[in-house]
Amino acid sequence: MQEAELGAGNPAIDLFDVQRAYRRWAPIYDMTVGKLIEAGHRHTVEIINRRKGTVLEVGVGTGLSLPHYARHLQVTGIDISPDMLRKARTRVDEQNLGHISALHEMDAGRLEFPDEEFDTVVAMYMITTVPNPEQVLRELERVCAPGGEVILVNHFSVEKGPRARLERLFAPLASTIGWRPVFPLKRVLGSSGLRLTDRRSLRPWGLFTMLRFVKQPDLAADHKLKTEAVGGHTHLKPARA
Ligand SMILES: C[S@@+](CC[C@H](N)C(=O)[O-])C[C@H]1O[C@@H](n2cnc3c(N)ncnc32)[C@H](O)[C@@H]1O
Repeated sequence: MQEAELGAGNPAIDLFDVQRAYRRWAPIYDMTVGKLIEAGHRHTVEIINRRKGTVLEVGVGTGLSLPHYARHLQVTGIDISPDMLRKARTRVDEQNLGHISALHEMDAGRLEFPDEEFDTVVAMYMITTVPNPEQVLRELERVCAPGGEVILVNHFSVEKGPRARLERLFAPLASTIGWRPVFPLKRVLGSSGLRLTDRRSLRPWGLFTMLRFVKQPDLAADHKLKTEAVGGHTHLKPARA
């Protein structure tokens, strides 16, 4: 589903809008939005902590989730906003978070990692902020190892009721506030290589949803064959988690 199909009230967001919005958010993010989403961070990271190997957190923001990761994981974070990343780097230094391998300034729509590099790929409260969510989903799938997990946590809009009216009211402000208030869940369910294995509502008030997907090894292998057939290259390796 593309932006135009969501109606005129849902204007496009570009990378410049995102960087400008999060330059404004960075100084106040932890004390405002951060408070609302901290239960979701804890819950999601608890699930990831049961896994092994490498984790990529896409749109890591100010790094609020980073102290919650278990020390047996090797976590890499990326974000497009230098202002949010600066906060994340300070947190890693001040709290001596040795399990955070790297924090990079990078566009989630063009990840600079090889295929199948990470055992777990997580994007919390970010898929509704990116200019091209479908492209970002393809990238999350690409860098996830076959049998690995892609986890999304977000607010998804509803179709009816007072909440839907509120979401539509705020929709025209998307490029200013830095996320799309109108963003239906079905928009992230189109990927053929990712199988949805868990869907749950998160606190507070079930406002947010966690979606867990497994990257299906058979489809990943299919994709590899097709890519090789047209002269591309991918590197298939076994899942480590
Ligand atoms: C609402 S914040 C969430 C931050 C963090 N995940 C959290 O849970 O606190 C959204 C983040 O996504 C980042 N973001 C938006 N579009 C991006 C893109 N194309 N590539 C990388 N990061 C992006 C923003 O810079 C911002 O830090």
